Amino acid sequence: MRYLVTGGAGFIGSNIVDALLAAGHEVRVIDNFSTGKRANLNPRAELLEADMTNFDAIHPFFVGVDGVFHTAALARIPFSIEHPIESAQANIMGTLNVLVAARDAKVRRLVYSASSSAYGSQPELPYRPDMCPNPLNPYAMQKYVGELVAEEFFRFYGLETVSLRYFNVYGPRMADEGAYVTVISVFRRQKKAGQPLTIHGDGEQTRDFTHVSDVVRANIMAMESPNVGKGEVLNVGTGSRYSINQIAAMIGGPTVHEAARFGEARDSLADISLTTERIGWEPKMKFEDGLNDLLSV
Ligand SMILES: NC(=O)c1ccc[n+]([C@@H]2O[C@H](COP(=O)([O-])OP(=O)(O)OC[C@H]3O[C@@H](n4cnc5c(N)ncnc54)[C@H](O)[C@@H]3O)[C@@H](O)[C@H]2O)c1
Repeated sequence: MRYLVTGGAGFIGSNIVDALLAAGHEVRVIDNFSTGKRANLNPRAELLEADMTNFDAIHPFFVGVDGVFHTAALARIPFSIEHPIESAQANIMGTLNVLVAARDAKVRRLVYSASSSAYGSQPELPYRPDMCPNPLNPYAMQKYVGELVAEEFFRFYGLETVSLRYFNVYGPRMADEGAYVTVISVFRRQKKAGQPLTIHGDGEQTRDFTHVSDVVRANIMAMESPNVGKGEVLNVGTGSRYSINQIAAMIGGPTVHEAARFGEARDSLADISLTTERIGWEPKMKFEDGLNDLLSV
């Protein structure tokens, strides 16, 4: 198969590219290296260095492509608050451009990297895709709009789409600055530098941390499964959560407390039963193992 990965030089996109190439597929990548790194990009992938907000530049590159993994986004919450236009242009208009280009090229299916941030705060845990979205910041809203547009492209144009809502992804190549600097990245850096681990708020906030290898498998299963393609929204998380205090204790060493962050959910936890039912996916990486792997590098 010939696949196109938008954002193929980013954290998650580059891991998808590697897995596709290892499985013997041809891979094309669109990336403008705004947050992605050249070092992440597999040299066996065919690169179009372009901005997805430039429709004419990306449109021809979709011809002959069987499936698209749309991971490119400006995935930074503070950036989306400070630069609402630029952020919406990339995350909403960029997604629309990618969908139109895929539709025109008669691509069979597009798997959209959605975000658990669409849930925001909910009255109960765990989060299920049938709950009413409650985005708490511009980035979360934009990612949610992308899901709606992807679903619309199936209804209006017959382009098969699936949205995967990732829950706090961590693993090799994860960002060490920005909104998705998971606390894990920050703690790892602080531990290496011999500094105390910084905890925002009381540290009892919890997150469902998902290893990138599991996210990659979910993408490929969503691309290949005969049971999805109609704009479904599926959670990609583990179904277990850890508090920031627990992670600090696992890493060890002194801690310091700072003010809680504004615009972020208190808890996140995925109900993955629909994902398992539809595409047969379950996470494999245990958090303790994934964390130890990262800390050993
Ligand atoms: N990392 C997480 O925990 C997480 C959680 C939920 C959802 N997501 C979603 O997963 C996707 C990938 O996230 P990531 O953590 O790998 O981020 P990342 O920043 O590492 O990767 C995004 C990639 O997209 C590229 N890009 C950005 N704007 C572009 C544009 N206008 N044109 C072309 N390329 C562009 C960047 O250069 C980068 O390579 C994003 O859509 C993000 O919203 C990530």
